[in-house]
Amino acid sequence: MMMTMQSDHNPLFNAAKSSFSRPSWAFTLLLFATAATLTLHVTTRAISPLPDLGAAAAPETCSALFHAPPPRRLVKSIADFGGVGDGATSNTAAFRRAIEFLEKSGGGGGGAQLNVPRGRWVTGSFNLTSDFTLFLEDGAVILGSQDPEEWPIIEALPSYGRGREREGGRHISLIHGNSLTNVVITGNNGTIDGQGKMWWDLWWNRTLKNTRGHLVELVNSHNILISNLTFRNSPFWTIHPVYCSNVVIRDMTILAPLNAPNTDGIDPDSSTNVCIEDCYIESGDDLVAVKSGWDQYGIATAKPSVNITVRRVSGTTPTCSGIGIGSEMSGGISNVLVEDLYIRDSAAGVRIKTDKGRGGYITNITIQNVVMERVKVPLRFSRGADDHPDEKWDPNALPLVRGIWISNVVSKDSRKPPLLIGIEGAPFQDICMRNVSLLGISPSLRWSCEFVSGFSDGVTPMPCLELQRNGSSSWC
Ligand SMILES: *[C@@H]1O[C@H](CO)[C@@H](O)[C@H](O)[C@H]1NC(C)=O
Ligand SMILES: *[C@@H]1O[C@H](CO)[C@@H](O)[C@H](O)[C@H]1NC(C)=O
Ligand SMILES: *[C@@H]1O[C@H](CO)[C@@H](O)[C@H](O)[C@H]1NC(C)=O
Ligand SMILES: *[C@@H]1O[C@H](CO)[C@@H](O)[C@H](O)[C@H]1NC(C)=O
Ligand SMILES: *[C@@H]1O[C@H](CO)[C@@H](O)[C@H](O)[C@H]1NC(C)=O
Ligand SMILES: *[C@@H]1O[C@H](CO)[C@@H](O)[C@H](O)[C@H]1NC(C)=O
Ligand SMILES: *[C@@H]1O[C@H](CO)[C@@H](O)[C@H](O)[C@H]1NC(C)=O
Ligand SMILES: *[C@@H]1O[C@H](CO)[C@@H](O)[C@H](O)[C@H]1NC(C)=O
Repeated sequence: MMMTMQSDHNPLFNAAKSSFSRPSWAFTLLLFATAATLTLHVTTRAISPLPDLGAAAAPETCSALFHAPPPRRLVKSIADFGGVGDGATSNTAAFRRAIEFLEKSGGGGGGAQLNVPRGRWVTGSFNLTSDFTLFLEDGAVILGSQDPEEWPIIEALPSYGRGREREGGRHISLIHGNSLTNVVITGNNGTIDGQGKMWWDLWWNRTLKNTRGHLVELVNSHNILISNLTFRNSPFWTIHPVYCSNVVIRDMTILAPLNAPNTDGIDPDSSTNVCIEDCYIESGDDLVAVKSGWDQYGIATAKPSVNITVRRVSGTTPTCSGIGIGSEMSGGISNVLVEDLYIRDSAAGVRIKTDKGRGGYITNITIQNVVMERVKVPLRFSRGADDHPDEKWDPNALPLVRGIWISNVVSKDSRKPPLLIGIEGAPFQDICMRNVSLLGISPSLRWSCEFVSGFSDGVTPMPCLELQRNGSSSWC
């Protein structure tokens, strides 16, 4: 198969670049415009073509989940360690030396910072350390090595029992961290480019031997900030915090060609207190997917994803969904808040995926203030398609899906009404929908509902009978 759509040459991308260069402004404008249109309510502020952002209340944020460290006392450049930013020389040894040095020095008590100056810095995988900032200056580009040996194989995650794509171990991420605290990856919008095409080709031509690596993966780590950078062309999922707590990911641009396989944007996995805000994401898979392990391995590991906030995220994924919950969710997923989402030109808007054998639960999920344009299936809940790690999965391990609140959704030019397909013996319960307008759907098409129950109010087109439960709706 050929790679045809490089983001930069894609007209959608160029349109997005101009209108979403500043995600938070884009949102304020978008929501403002929507509110103004829907209410036809002219306020003094509406007279001005741009809302007065200075006077507006500070936007809601969960960034405080990251406890900012004191300024780093020790600051070095990758050039101090023999790094060469010529786009050809391998800097793997330089990065490893730099981080080893900064780790040993202890940063004089305040932690250390490694700067990456303007230039093109090719590197294989390297590990971060605690009390550490990786800072990409304006014009700095870190490029993933094209030598698979520079992405060594590490053990499978216990909650997956094997590599996600292939049995056994998996390639390490380009930038990796294990058991760390107080880590910052930031800069003046520098770029980390995984140069993933080599890996997508291996996947497409079926010669991939081990599961592909992520662009950035943090395992078992606490107090992490990833901000103000552009991540491109990840081989596999782009940012993967797993078994982590207090992770803030904000003001990020994440890009991959729209047909690049499994290039999810951000996948919080078995992690707590994760805050994702003000990001623009376009890729070949889900923009954000919340996960917690796979079948019997995820059930045994029992590490849920709890307290996950996704706010002011926009983007496009023509084959996947804006926000996905699952399908790996065997450790449980609860207390997820998703709001102020803008999804365009995508296969699905909100997608909940699970299956027999998963066990676990998906509970207390709130999704509100969503604008979609040209999203084929705005709301899609489904059971999977026999996607299990091995033959040992337990057919009696049924997931519990209960308490999904969806409100204030406008979807323009959608094609299909919602699909809400639960599992026999484990129906999805307490699905609450309020003020949801799905426009553009042919009136001849009906919702597809199976093994679900809930309540709806102010929802068009008319929901299936399963969501018209008559009786008390006080829970909704
Ligand atoms: C960062 O760079 C990306 C890619 O060029 C661009 O789309 C985005 O608008 C930039 N972000 C900021 C805050 O300048
Ligand atoms: C990086 O960390 C991984 C996992 O903790 C470990 O397997 C690997 O050996 C480390 N790599 C280096 C170069 O230290
Ligand atoms: C983010 O990057 C932009 C573009 O380089 C820079 O002007 C700005 O100061 C950075 N913001 C923060 C909070 O670091
Ligand atoms: C598969 O893709 C890889 C990476 O581009 C390439 O090295 C290899 O020759 C390809 N194999 C086949 C059978 O096409
Ligand atoms: C989730 O957030 C709530 C409220 O902020 C907090 O009380 C609770 O401890 C958090 N849960 C976990 C597992 O950290
Ligand atoms: C449900 O999740 C929300 C966050 O979305 C949280 O504020 C609330 O406390 C949770 N409710 C329960 C009962 O845990
Ligand atoms: C319904 O949703 C729209 C769009 O999200 C919002 O502007 C409007 O205020 C909502 N109406 C109510 C009654 O909440
Ligand atoms: C609820 O009420 C509607 C409209 O009165 C009716 O068509 C529908 O069959 C009822 N649903 C159930 C589950 O009883």
